[in-house]
Amino acid sequence: MRASMKPGTFLLAFTLLCTLLGLGCPLSCEVCRGSGPTCSGKMKTCEAGKDACVVVVGESCTKGRHAVNTYKACMKYSDCYSGFVSTTMGPKDYMVSNTRCCQSDGCNQGSVPPPQNNRTENGLQCPACIAPFQETCPGTQAARCVGQETHCVYFAGNVQAGLITPKFATRGCATESACFAKAGAQVPSASYLYFLRRADCLPARQAPSRAE
Ligand SMILES: *[C@@H]1O[C@H](CO)[C@@H](O)[C@H](O)[C@H]1NC(C)=O
Repeated sequence: MRASMKPGTFLLAFTLLCTLLGLGCPLSCEVCRGSGPTCSGKMKTCEAGKDACVVVVGESCTKGRHAVNTYKACMKYSDCYSGFVSTTMGPKDYMVSNTRCCQSDGCNQGSVPPPQNNRTENGLQCPACIAPFQETCPGTQAARCVGQETHCVYFAGNVQAGLITPKFATRGCATESACFAKAGAQVPSASYLYFLRRADCLPARQAPSRAE
């Protein structure tokens, strides 16, 4: 009996072999970006150093404008946080997202549940600012934290928005999960890809009561 090897079997054998030999097999992930709670795109081979597939579903509010977006791509596993992140820079500027990171071919196909968006103030506050095209941000305003946001973040770096990658700086409230983002990391949101040069994270303080 002659055994003919199917292409799938061959690929599996190759993947198994390069895994066993520790050769760092290239991963392939679905790549897309779009509005709505999911998107679909082509499978692409990840460039060297990107050893995870990611899917992010985010709900954002920018100057009061709401949007739900999805992002799927390759990224570095050590930069990837799986779970819920919430950030608030002001009452009309915030973002909540759910992310899943995984490490097998095409594992970011499909979708993740849309994030919860709990806008109930929790009594904490943070210095806040949004400074597009700037390297720093004064934080002279205060943002009131909501839901599970217990930390204050200061992110700065560059943000990829289409073909341009301008500087940005921003401060505000965040869930502790946002502290996973470190300077030097490439962090996707549902809408943009951030190259972080600065990523500070501190516990938030109690806000003065509104009655005062
Ligand atoms: C929303 O956030 C508030 C403030 O942290 C909290 O008391 C409340 O339990 C949260 N609600 C839900 C449904 O998680």
